[in-house]
Amino acid sequence: MSPIHPLVFVSALAFNLTNSLCLSGWLAGYGPTTAYDWAGRLYWIQAGLVVWGWALLGNIFHDDDLREIRRSALRRQREQAKKDNKPIEGVQKLYMMPKNGLFHYVLFPHYLCEWIEWTGFWMIGGLACTPARAFLFNEISTMLPRALQGRRWYIQKFGKDRVGNRKAVIPGLI
Ligand SMILES: NC(=O)c1ccc[n+]([C@@H]2O[C@H](COP(=O)([O-])OP(=O)(O)OC[C@H]3O[C@@H](n4cnc5c(N)ncnc54)[C@H](OP(=O)(O)O)[C@@H]3O)[C@@H](O)[C@H]2O)c1
Repeated sequence: MSPIHPLVFVSALAFNLTNSLCLSGWLAGYGPTTAYDWAGRLYWIQAGLVVWGWALLGNIFHDDDLREIRRSALRRQREQAKKDNKPIEGVQKLYMMPKNGLFHYVLFPHYLCEWIEWTGFWMIGGLACTPARAFLFNEISTMLPRALQGRRWYIQKFGKDRVGNRKAVIPGLI
């Protein structure tokens, strides 16, 4: 992982603490708290769970695909180093074009999956679940600029031809 500024670390910690307090506070006190309140919402909850679960798997799959770039390079280096009897160079700052899954269409599918995941959570909590909605909008508003900047970085590093038609985060759109 790239080093991060302590301010970013503290902001992330503060954001997550505030977010979890808002979500748990709503679930414990403001939202539907009795079986009667939850009644009649089974289909929404089931649909939300399916959306949440598949998107979580997608998030993990695409995150893992990025990590596999360095893992496989390290494996290759180890094998080569064994043959040549030389020390390995390391892969800490190795970047390649990811290709699997939704990387075929966008450069930040892990972000897209993360947003879909939390849309599923919002469906489970119900449309009136204000902190779930706020979380989703906060995520989109902080991660979208990062994905757009990331696409510019990919073009700079690998060239327009290699990036091709791939958008930043939403296939065919942005
Ligand atoms: N960013 C946010 O605000 C945010 C908020 C909520 C949840 N998340 C979730 O947290 C997870 C990680 O987010 P992130 O913003 O850190 O993602 P990211 O910038 O895409 O980086 C993820 C990891 O993959 C490596 N990597 C990225 N592109 C690569 C490439 N082309 N070749 C090789 N390695 C590459 C990065 O290495 P380096 O660090 O060395 O560059 C880092 O270790 C995602 O699942 C995301 O949905 C992020």
